[in-house]
Amino acid sequence: MLASEAPRSDTVETDLLLWWEDFYLPVFEYVLPKMGGLEGKRILELGTGTGGTATLLAKRGASVIGIDLLPFRLAEAQARATKYNVAEAVNFALMDAMHLAFPDNTFDFIISKSVLVFTEHSHIAKECYRVLKPGGKAIFMENMRYHPAVWLYRKLFLKYSGKLRYFSMRDIETVGAEFAQLEHREFHLTAVSALFWQKCITIPLFYRWTLRVFKAIDTSLLKCLPFLKRFCWITAMICHKG
Ligand SMILES: C[S@@+](CC[C@H](N)C(=O)[O-])C[C@H]1O[C@@H](n2cnc3c(N)ncnc32)[C@H](O)[C@@H]1O
Repeated sequence: MLASEAPRSDTVETDLLLWWEDFYLPVFEYVLPKMGGLEGKRILELGTGTGGTATLLAKRGASVIGIDLLPFRLAEAQARATKYNVAEAVNFALMDAMHLAFPDNTFDFIISKSVLVFTEHSHIAKECYRVLKPGGKAIFMENMRYHPAVWLYRKLFLKYSGKLRYFSMRDIETVGAEFAQLEHREFHLTAVSALFWQKCITIPLFYRWTLRVFKAIDTSLLKCLPFLKRFCWITAMICHKG
């Protein structure tokens, strides 16, 4: 890839965020600068799904392995990487994130989005610690447990949600305890209400405006009243191996 073609580090291709892209945009804008320059870095993505994050990182010069339990997802991920001209930089493999078939100290970064909720947290954290190189970082973007509206939605419409391990603040600390250092930030409290204008009554202008206004409200609210972080929708954990 020519340097002039490489995406600017402060822009994120929203079509590669795949789900709820408006809501994941600030999460990636928080996470990507923590990773620094990715040229030549080895990255493992857990639960890659259709490969949006793996493709996004490969476009930034990383060599990425994406793993998942579902073969049809891996085929979609491969097609996405090919479409974005990064197929040579990404490999996809059928593998359980709970049992990583890699030697110790292999990766500069491990990343996942909405995957740890399907797993046992401290076990996967230990496994990630093992395969990270010294100085490496594991980055987990996960769904939290106690946002009132999201909690109600899951109860009413996601029958399998009772089996998932959504994150509380204590769960965040449990994952972090396996590493030398933990940083985390929580996202979206009142901003979730914008979804009404996207999913219930589709008025794109109202959606964009309420999203913008409530995102700004959330930033101030969480700064002034940090105990409200436990009621957010998404958390991003940056775990340092040290
Ligand atoms: C909610 S999807 C998220 C997909 C992708 N990370 C994204 O954000 O678009 C969860 C993915 O994790 C995968 N998954 C769940 N448990 C897994 C495990 N133990 N090992 C590997 N992949 C797993 C699922 O097959 C699914 O593709």
